[in-house]
Amino acid sequence: MDFSFTEEQLMLQELAARIAREKIAPSAAGHDAAASYPLENIRLLGENGLMGIEVPVQFGGAGMDPVATVLAISEIAAADAAHATILSVNNSLFCTALTLHGSDAHKQGALRQVAEGRAIGAFALTEAHCGSDATAMRCRAEATGTGQWRINGAKSWITSGPVADWVILFAVTDPQAGSRGITAFLIDTTRAGFSRGKSEPKMGVRASATCEIRFDDYLAEAADVIGAPGQGFKLAMSLLDGGRIGIAAQAVGIARAAYQASVAYAQQRQAFGQAIGSFQLIQAKIADMKCKLDAATWLTLRAAWLKGQGQPFSTEAAVAKLTASEAAMWIAHQAVQIHGGMGYSQELPVERYFRDAKITEIYEGTSEIQRIVIARNETGLR
Ligand code: CAA
Repeated sequence: MDFSFTEEQLMLQELAARIAREKIAPSAAGHDAAASYPLENIRLLGENGLMGIEVPVQFGGAGMDPVATVLAISEIAAADAAHATILSVNNSLFCTALTLHGSDAHKQGALRQVAEGRAIGAFALTEAHCGSDATAMRCRAEATGTGQWRINGAKSWITSGPVADWVILFAVTDPQAGSRGITAFLIDTTRAGFSRGKSEPKMGVRASATCEIRFDDYLAEAADVIGAPGQGFKLAMSLLDGGRIGIAAQAVGIARAAYQASVAYAQQRQAFGQAIGSFQLIQAKIADMKCKLDAATWLTLRAAWLKGQGQPFSTEAAVAKLTASEAAMWIAHQAVQIHGGMGYSQELPVERYFRDAKITEIYEGTSEIQRIVIARNETGLR
């Protein structure tokens, strides 16, 4: 078993760490407070190959592997989780969908633009009445009889929705067929029939713009179908397997930042005549944080490595996402406690880590859904 990284993976990690240090960390608190989308930083990430890490070079990407994606997302998330949300959805969901299932026209068009950071991609599965129960979607695409699809309905909680140039949409094309009646479409947001609703006011990852999107007689062409009609649900599920590794990587980054801040504070903060890190109650927290952080890190890398080897990774991605998101939440909670009043103050990023960590237990499949996926895969029962 080889735990070392390749030279290329380490170079990408260092590049992401440098951008995180020089550009993202200094602007993170401001974007969080204003809930403003960090377009300039996202363009910079795109120019440096970080918006299409696994996209083949011929389609504008960096041509790297899932382990490199995990390293990059974790570095960005350690500086600001909201940037990592945008990065993860763009890479793991949007770009992977077109890389694996898109037509040549999709790859030469939307995929290239998004991988090069000239355009932003989104993924639209969730609706206001259904998040976990994705097959209950109502957004409808009806065949017009002339080769087109007429789309009507709305999707909620769309990451990058307010700024997306392209959207991967899942809509019902055969209402009688359940999960086998759902189809994926590539949506051009400049076309008639597409509109955006109000942005969601959120607890955390506030700089990652999120909104409802609407379709009112949007006409999609036959060539806009991704994969085949009726294959959309399986496509969404397989993409989410990969997306969950991205969110696990984000959680690892948040957890690492909260842990490192806590160690530094425990070394420097004095109470009762000594550094608080000398007290066993603080030492126990530091030790438990370190164990959870390492478990989250290596489970996430295991899932990414399996994906890169072309091996099944659905269970391992769910294990990584569940472990890393719950570790991030727990570690951020302890970090606030170790920092005391300063952990509750907006003068330090610790309270932001706490708010940001929570979403990793919710999006791309809640912790409850991860447990369902793991248990179903392990037992073979439903
Ligand atoms: N890969 C490929 N196919 C899969 C699959 C996978 N991982 N999981 C299920 N399928 C297939 C099944 O084999 C089945 O196929 P057949 O019809 O051939 O039998 C079909 O999909 C239906 O599967 P289920 O019967 O298991 O479906 P279900 O209705 O019971 O749902 C679920 C299963 C795991 C609960 C699923 O609905 C789920 O994962 N829900 C969570 C949805 C989610 O993660 N949403 C996140 C929104 S996106 C987001 O957050 C992005 C963002 O912007 C940050």
